[in-house]
This record gives sequence, structure tokens and C-alpha cells, in this order.
Amino acid sequence: MAAKLGEVADVEYVSGDYSGKLHEARAVLASMEQVNDAYLSKAPKLGIVARFGVGYDTVDVPACTRRGIYVGYTPDVLSAAVADLTWALILGWMRRIAELDVYTRTEWGKRQKGYEFGWDLPGKTVGFLGLGRIGAEAVKRGQGFDVKMIYSDVVRRPDLEERYQLEYVGIDELFKRSDVISVHVPLLSSTRHMLNRDRFKMMKSTAIVVNTSRGGVIDQVALVEALEQKWIAGAALDVFEEEPIPLESGLLKMRNVVVTPHCASATWETRRKMAERCAENIRAYLEGKRPPFTVPEQKGLTF
Ligand code: 8YV
Repeated sequence: MAAKLGEVADVEYVSGDYSGKLHEARAVLASMEQVNDAYLSKAPKLGIVARFGVGYDTVDVPACTRRGIYVGYTPDVLSAAVADLTWALILGWMRRIAELDVYTRTEWGKRQKGYEFGWDLPGKTVGFLGLGRIGAEAVKRGQGFDVKMIYSDVVRRPDLEERYQLEYVGIDELFKRSDVISVHVPLLSSTRHMLNRDRFKMMKSTAIVVNTSRGGVIDQVALVEALEQKWIAGAALDVFEEEPIPLESGLLKMRNVVVTPHCASATWETRRKMAERCAENIRAYLEGKRPPFTVPEQKGLTF
């Protein structure tokens, strides 16, 4: 990416806090840092925030728009990788992969302790909360597992319902019927803590929650309570309300919780595509053109 941009700009890679550099930046590539008014006021020359990802809950889009700053993002190119990790987490939890990996390395050869069985996926109901680009990719991958797939979203997708024998249900029904709930909604004020105490209580005590979207969609305190009280059976989580998840978090002490470090898009191929998409956005802006991948809120706007 640096090579692509090096032809049109001075590119500097800064690790850690880069706020001291913001006063001279015309473009930034933003990871998960908060891009808000305080950030933007340090960046008078900024014309584009290129989010290195598809979620942009960390960026105050209205504040950028007011200042005439484009907000770029990287839709589509990471959907497959995130959908893959979603199923890896579902299967990983059902078949106890993390736990049995430790057992195989440390116990099996001693021939003293056995191990616990996992659970079948066929015959189970998998509920998708959100059927956007990533949710749709996850549903596509569910075809081979002989599971019943249901979904809930604010937008109904009859095309996908027909293609994947997918059933549309209301949100509470999704929680009541699913053996696996997989979260694919973006973090918005309307989706924050969508998975809360009441919803966990609606779930089957044998059901699990899988989250590859944003930690804030789940009320994590309520999740710990739901796991402790055995309202639900487990969770497989790539994202958390606070990241990195503090080492002392109760979730990390639970055997029925599988965790990964917000790595759903972290493959060499996908990260390269994301970097290219960011570079295209920044390069277009620096060449005086409209960046090709801006967030929907800036559709049709030119600064
Ligand atoms: C990245 C993501 O890990 O696409 C997103 O919104 O959360 C992930 O792909 C993250 O953006 C890293 O900067």
C-alpha cells in the first residue's frame, strides 16, 4: 500500500499514539481508534479518514461531514473472512476445539483423564441477527451443515430467503428458537446491548452466542450473568466491549467461552485487499477525485 501511495504522497507508518502527527496529515488510515471532534480538531489539513475495516462506529461521521472530510471504509473484501471465522467459532465451540487442543498437548498421553464430548451441528437451528454483507456470506456457508437457518433484520431479504431456505422471524422469536445466535449487525445506538438480560433469558439453556461483529452489541455484564446462571450454555467471541479484553475479565475464566482477539478479517489475503481498498480511497482523494468507497451517510457528497 505504501508503494501505491508513495507516488502521490509522503507516507509515514506510525505505531502507537500518532496524535502529534495529526496537524500535518491530509489523510489517515484509521484502525479502531476513536475519530471524534477532539481528534479532528488536531487535524486541520485532514481530508479523508480511511477506515481500515467495514465497521465505522469508531468514526464520528457527522463531525467529519461538517468539516468536509471523507470517511472511507472497506466493504465486501472482508465478508468472506469474517463469515469463515464465524463458522470456525461455531464449530470450535460445538466440538470443543480449543479445550481439546490443550487436552491433547497436556493430558491425552498420560492416559489418566478422558475428555468431554461436543455436540452435533446437524439438526440445530442457527439464528442470524443481521443479514447484511457478512450475515449473507455466513448464511451461504451454512448450506452444508444440515442446519435450520433463521434470521432477523430491519431489512427483509426475500431473495436470500429463497436461495438459502432461510426463514425470516421477529427478533424475540430468533432468541427463543435458536441453538446458535450469530451476531452480524453493526454497532449503532439502536443495536447497542441488543443482547441483554431479557434476551438471554429468552434463549434456550443449551444455546450459544457467537459474535464477530462488535462487542457493544452484547451487554457483556449481562452475558457473564447469563453464563454464570446457566441461562445459556456458552459463547464464542471475537469482539468485546473493551478491547483488548482485560486479562482479569470473568469471561476469560469460563471454560464454556471461546475467544479470539478481534481477528475475523486477519488473513494475509483479506488484509491485503483491505489495505488496497484504503489506498485506492486515499489516492483518489489526493489526486482530487472522489474516493470510491465512502460510507453510505456520505453518498453523493463531494467536498
Ligand atoms: C478489523 C473490523 O479488525 O472491518 C472491521 O470493521 O473490525 C476488522 O476488520 C479492524 O477494522 C482493524 O482495524
